[in-house]
Amino acid sequence: MSKVTISDSVLYVGVDDKTLDLFESQYIVPNGVSYNSYVILDEKITIMDTVDARATEPWLENLAAVLGDNKPAYLVVSHMEPDHAANIQKLAEMYPEMQIVVNAKTLAMLPQFFAIDNLKDRAVVVAEGDTLSLGSHTLQFFMAPMVHWPEVMVTYEQAEKILFSADGFGKFGALDADEDWACEARRYYMNIVGKYGAQVQALLKKAATLDIQTICPLHGPILKEDLGYYIGKYQVWSSYEPEDEGVVIAYASIHGNTGKAAKQLAEMLQQKGAKKVKVFDLSRSDMAEVIEDIYRYDKLVLACATYDGGMFPVMEDLLYHLKLKNFQNRKVGLVQNGSWGPIAGKQMAAQLEAMKKIEIVGPLVTIKSTVKPETVAALEQLADAMIQA
Ligand code: FEO
Repeated sequence: MSKVTISDSVLYVGVDDKTLDLFESQYIVPNGVSYNSYVILDEKITIMDTVDARATEPWLENLAAVLGDNKPAYLVVSHMEPDHAANIQKLAEMYPEMQIVVNAKTLAMLPQFFAIDNLKDRAVVVAEGDTLSLGSHTLQFFMAPMVHWPEVMVTYEQAEKILFSADGFGKFGALDADEDWACEARRYYMNIVGKYGAQVQALLKKAATLDIQTICPLHGPILKEDLGYYIGKYQVWSSYEPEDEGVVIAYASIHGNTGKAAKQLAEMLQQKGAKKVKVFDLSRSDMAEVIEDIYRYDKLVLACATYDGGMFPVMEDLLYHLKLKNFQNRKVGLVQNGSWGPIAGKQMAAQLEAMKKIEIVGPLVTIKSTVKPETVAALEQLADAMIQA
């Protein structure tokens, strides 16, 4: 049974998944991921969300250990994404008396995934601010649309001051992963919720009105101490403000020459006093990690080879992801390479111009095949401009 403790009456029944290759079929999870689920023991026993289909068996074992012969009165559905909702139908069939607590959007979405008998009669439909008494505990519901799907809601338990925050404050990594919270929470946030900064800000405003002592997210550790730290990180991330000073250099290089220029620029920036410089070879880096660091630092340089009359595809892929994730409010320098018709710089600039509050800094550095003394001089100019920006 789980060693995770929340309180005598709020118990963890979630499951660590350490064999998943890709979360959402796109994100590597070297230290796994947890599908969190909770049980509130009270007159009306309540289950807070189910888990991914990959975790059904151990979750049912955890549930059985907590419930014994008791039957749950309610299942609260915070989010319909299958990493949490996969077992709703199974649970509904196991406990035909159990009611399912949803909002109107969730109720509309449930039949798309499941065929639950008597759903309308079994659903307890809640709206913003509604409360539900379980006995000594009272749940209060707050809508959190687009954090990370439209039907998402969070639940505040008033007696123990617990916020069940859905994907909010979630993190990659199994619960027993010995790793920094911010690193994998940032990669999770930027890539999964990053597009929805305004909606996260709206949720933070609601949360600010509550006295929260514990945050129980749907992924990653239960947060009990120093909550201001985590909420502060979410404030910065959701506002699209940079978190730290530094320059990320992301390069797309076919035969290594654009990469050489990127590394030379990194050395120049370090010599000129840049606080932090991080270089990514886009052909060989985890895209989610690159996006995390691009959001984290205040400056970015994109260096790209010209290929088939356009950008080398990994750079186009990065810019596509940045656009998708609502990337904005940064200073960006550009380097292009081309042996006969360099065009990547123009195309990168066009993509960036379509994003909000992007300032192109310094000259567009053009490499013709390999770095030559004149290119070194142009790289120096770009490095100076980035430092001064
Ligand atoms: Fe963890 Fe949006 O599901």
